[in-house]
Amino acid sequence: MINKRQTSVNIEKLKAELTALNARGLAQVEVDEIIQFAKMYQVYEAAQNEVATKLENLDAEFQLNYNHNPIHHMDGRMKSPESLVGKMQKKGLERTVKTLTDNVFDIAGLRVITNYIDDIYTIERLLTHQSDVTVLKRKGYVETPKASGYRSLHLVVTVPVFLSTGVVDTPVEIQIRTVGMDMWASLEHKLRYKTDDDRAEEHAQQLERYAGELFDIERNLQAIHQDL
Ligand code: GTP
Ligand code: MG
Repeated sequence: MINKRQTSVNIEKLKAELTALNARGLAQVEVDEIIQFAKMYQVYEAAQNEVATKLENLDAEFQLNYNHNPIHHMDGRMKSPESLVGKMQKKGLERTVKTLTDNVFDIAGLRVITNYIDDIYTIERLLTHQSDVTVLKRKGYVETPKASGYRSLHLVVTVPVFLSTGVVDTPVEIQIRTVGMDMWASLEHKLRYKTDDDRAEEHAQQLERYAGELFDIERNLQAIHQDL
């Protein structure tokens, strides 16, 4: 099962809100742009569902064949319109739907938490070998962690979304990491918002060290699992 963190945009509510705004002088071109945004958003959500279903099916097949589930659980999130606007501002991008979809690849996001390190690559291989999946980007932070100690495999893949008007290849960002790496990332993420804390630097150093220790432990646990 995929745990969804956010609900999608609702056109009816959006239209009502826009009409109210329109009465206060919102230009027609902006209204059109927002409706276009809502339509785009739905396509990305559909792409997220497509990829999530692929992953669920792969996990089930793997369990059947090898008596092992590579996936512990999955989280899905659509980046909120507020965060998208913020990201575009930060990147100095013009605020149009076209610029957004040309430059931002994590509008739809999936996080796949695996049981073991090797499962990360199993998932990657099984997913990216599918004939309708295209890899746009890959960042291998498992083998080469970030300076913070962060480990995860980041992929951006496109999948075809079939609409009444045709097919659109749509990107989805997938972060694949183990339970240990995920636990670490959640804690480290919290620390990032506590920059006022004078022990932040000390914590960051500890976390960087623990990331390496966790990786070693997960490798050892995997070896036992493979031996069984
Ligand atoms: P974005 O514009 O944020 O997508 O930057 P990017 O394209 O350089 O992406 P990158 O692969 O560096 O990171 C994307 C996402 O990975 C972030 O939004 C976080 O969710 C996660 N991430 C990356 N680095 C870290 C880190 O050091 N700590 C934690 N906790 N998460 C990280
Ligand atoms: Mg991102």
